[in-house]
Amino acid sequence: MTCNIDLKKFKVGKAVIAKMKNQFVLILDLGGRNNQLIARRVRECNVYCEVHPYTIPLEKIKKLNPVGIIIIGDTSSNKLREIDNGIWEIDVPILGISSGMHLMARAFGGSISSSNDDEYCEVVASFDNSSTLFDGLPSCGRTWMSRDYYVDTTPDNFDTIANSDDIPTISIQDSSRKFYGVQFHPEISNTENGSKILRNFLYSICGCVGDWTMESYAKASIDNIRKTVGNKRVLLALSGGVDSSVAAALLSKAIGDQLSCIFVDHGFMRKNEGDEVEDAFADWDINLVRVNAGERFLNRLSGISDPETKRKIIGEEFIRVFEDEARKIGTVDFLVQGTIYPDVIESGAGDAALIKSHHNVGGLPDHVEFKEIIEPLRQLFKDEVRQLGLVLGLDERLVFRQPFPGPGLAIRIIGDITFEKLEILREADFIFRDEIAKASLDKQIHQYFCVLTSMRSVGVTKAQRTYDYTLALRGVVTNDFMTADYARIPYDVLDKISKRIVNEAGSINRIVYDITSKPPSTIEWE
Ligand code: XMP
Repeated sequence: MTCNIDLKKFKVGKAVIAKMKNQFVLILDLGGRNNQLIARRVRECNVYCEVHPYTIPLEKIKKLNPVGIIIIGDTSSNKLREIDNGIWEIDVPILGISSGMHLMARAFGGSISSSNDDEYCEVVASFDNSSTLFDGLPSCGRTWMSRDYYVDTTPDNFDTIANSDDIPTISIQDSSRKFYGVQFHPEISNTENGSKILRNFLYSICGCVGDWTMESYAKASIDNIRKTVGNKRVLLALSGGVDSSVAAALLSKAIGDQLSCIFVDHGFMRKNEGDEVEDAFADWDINLVRVNAGERFLNRLSGISDPETKRKIIGEEFIRVFEDEARKIGTVDFLVQGTIYPDVIESGAGDAALIKSHHNVGGLPDHVEFKEIIEPLRQLFKDEVRQLGLVLGLDERLVFRQPFPGPGLAIRIIGDITFEKLEILREADFIFRDEIAKASLDKQIHQYFCVLTSMRSVGVTKAQRTYDYTLALRGVVTNDFMTADYARIPYDVLDKISKRIVNEAGSINRIVYDITSKPPSTIEWE
């Protein structure tokens, strides 16, 4: 049977959540930059939450049965959206953040004014500590907010519970109905005591107990996988990346050798990486098949230099190799996908333009016989996936591996790819990582790697003219990989890296450091 996507998907993820959802908080996303950040902050308080777009039907909200709702937007990007006013009748505590507060004020007869000041900036707020929302806070503190809209008249039955020097109302409450609004963003770390404000809302106002932990998730998830899978067979594409490795560990704990993992080594891994992945799972109860398909991929990419074409070919070829191998295993009942929560959040702001077609190992094959898809990480953020990996006892090298794109080194060689170029890049990249670790910078720089450019230039080695490649070093610091700044690597470390690479990697006579942030650049070069 060939499978299409409309199968009974996501069964395991959803069932686990249903079990743990007695303390569920709904985040209503009006668009803007902070939808994922607020969700992570809520989860850091050990409360399970989900982000849904502001267009979600009221009936669905009621069915989700949240113990609290957070409405969040940032005013400059979405002006004032319309939401279903039935939300105010559901009888659950609501926290409106930024434009969420403005919607709340407007819904109850308050007035909103706009100002010419559209700066997103620091504002010192004075708090009314008698409000449960600000309980335990100092009487004033630094906050961050947009100032382009503000509450001009506080609605009847609401009190103003915070102000600043120039804005008389930056927080409101109707404590009898447990409605609270803040113009500033408690979820960003620059806002002092932001997490205390969120904890006050979640624990004291919504009555959450904070039982969302990775230990409890692992236990519930393992129980559910066992129930769902029974004695049937499961297939997983293992890439060695954090997500597929944690998924493999979770399934291994749940169903042992009923799990088969196919690890397609496309030949674009870093030095020794294929062996490391294999070693990390040597003692786990799974069937692991490693396919060394480097030659097959190189042949398919011969003479190809366009980045998007490379990505497409690698993605397609990956699926074909996976299918070939899966056929040897025979019919399986379930296919695992390592989808994580940021991949599935439907933003209130609509879809972004395609910059690069991402290849995530584990994409859906067309010709593998299976009946259902299991997505055991579908509700988790990346940091939660890592925590889960640690709880399960997975090798820390895999848990804390820096992000590595599905197409691997193939998109870090500009222009066409050859085996020789791959070997040069592998060695240079190994040296770069080695020196960064020796300088104890590996925890501070979030992603760092080498790019072999297609440019060659004249140099001199041992009094001989050379005409060799230029290598670029890239190192970035970032919170979310959506924006990034280049890492300020000290000159003496760069110096050591440069000398070692030129001496040891071969065919490189010039090294440059990429000093662009994202945007306007991207982290990867292709
Ligand atoms: P860019 O280059 O878009 O990269 O700034 C952002 C982050 O995504 C990683 N990346 C990928 N990850 N499959 C992946 O799983 C891909 O095809 C892919 N391309 C880029 C990149 O390494 C960075 O961490």
